[in-house]
Amino acid sequence: MKRENRSLIRSLVAVTVGFGLIIVPLSQAKPPVQTPKPGEKPVASVRCDMQNAVNAAYAKFKDVTEGKNADYIPVLAKVDPNLFGIAVVTVDGKVYTSGNITTEVSIQSISKVFTMAQVIQEQGPESIEKRIGVDATGARFNSIIAVEAVKVVAGTGAPEMNALVNPGAISATSMVTGANADEVWKKIIGAYDDYAGRPLNVLQEVYKSESETNQRNQAIGALMFAYGYIKSNWQQAVDLYTRQCSVGVNAKDLATMAATLANSGKNPITGKQIIDETNVPRVLAVMATAGLYDDSGKWLYHTGLPAKSGVGGGIIAVSPGKFGIAAISPPLDAAGNSVRAQRAITAISNDLGGNPLAAKAK
Ligand code: DON
Repeated sequence: MKRENRSLIRSLVAVTVGFGLIIVPLSQAKPPVQTPKPGEKPVASVRCDMQNAVNAAYAKFKDVTEGKNADYIPVLAKVDPNLFGIAVVTVDGKVYTSGNITTEVSIQSISKVFTMAQVIQEQGPESIEKRIGVDATGARFNSIIAVEAVKVVAGTGAPEMNALVNPGAISATSMVTGANADEVWKKIIGAYDDYAGRPLNVLQEVYKSESETNQRNQAIGALMFAYGYIKSNWQQAVDLYTRQCSVGVNAKDLATMAATLANSGKNPITGKQIIDETNVPRVLAVMATAGLYDDSGKWLYHTGLPAKSGVGGGIIAVSPGKFGIAAISPPLDAAGNSVRAQRAITAISNDLGGNPLAAKAK
């Protein structure tokens, strides 16, 4: 055989083997079931685009060592900084993962999204708008500046606290109805379970560590009560808030929670409708404007995705009508957001065309 023919055959074999390995990962290997319409990608190819994007982001960012674990809650400083997991859950319930998706971290502030969603679902979108406010505060997540009436919600006299930062989040927790702490907690954790599609548990070590060191949140709770924004029992509100922040989640749980919001409030894996479709855009709007602290604008500029971070190292992001995505990596940047989670989510979403602000006319 001529040398050029041999080399051609070698290239074809390499391409074929590469194609087999990369395009059809064994765990996903299924024959395409639909005939693509003209201009549409075959199902198998969409599946591999997704898995390839997740794998590529994991490979690209796994060795990044920038950032530092949160340590103002002492136990968070002890979490393995190398932990890195990514998951994407699509609105049709497909799951794509890379890295560690079994180790749980505390959900921390990501919980604020789902407690706010619970209040909106129970009491209507106005409850949050009028009692807490939906503008970003522009202050740090544990600041009391907004409580001290930087702004006032028209017609109610309530401050613009925002349910995704501590004063507003503790207020939102106090608004969940129930005859006693147990009843309120069952509702909160029940909603989180529904979003995640499995029963979640409090990480007791985190709950203990945060309860011992949350004097600032206690002060916020007392202040909110003094001003009448928390109607009764601020201690219970702060304790339940601390508990909700200590719930353990892995990357797949977080991606499923995000995917439920991407799927108009219906968990795409369990099929259960958790929040009315009409309430979802309200939740996403607050995430878009205030989900990543002081860097929310910068985040939106680069991704267009409603998102929420937590000091445990998790970030969720929602591509409405497409997918939920989450990454966990404990080291945080100066703004308090996970370095690797931000990078991974941005890269994957950009690869998959997830930016809702880049939608084209059909
Ligand atoms: O209240 C705290 O300080 C923590 N439980 C949560 C902080 C966090 O994740 C940042 N939030 N926006």
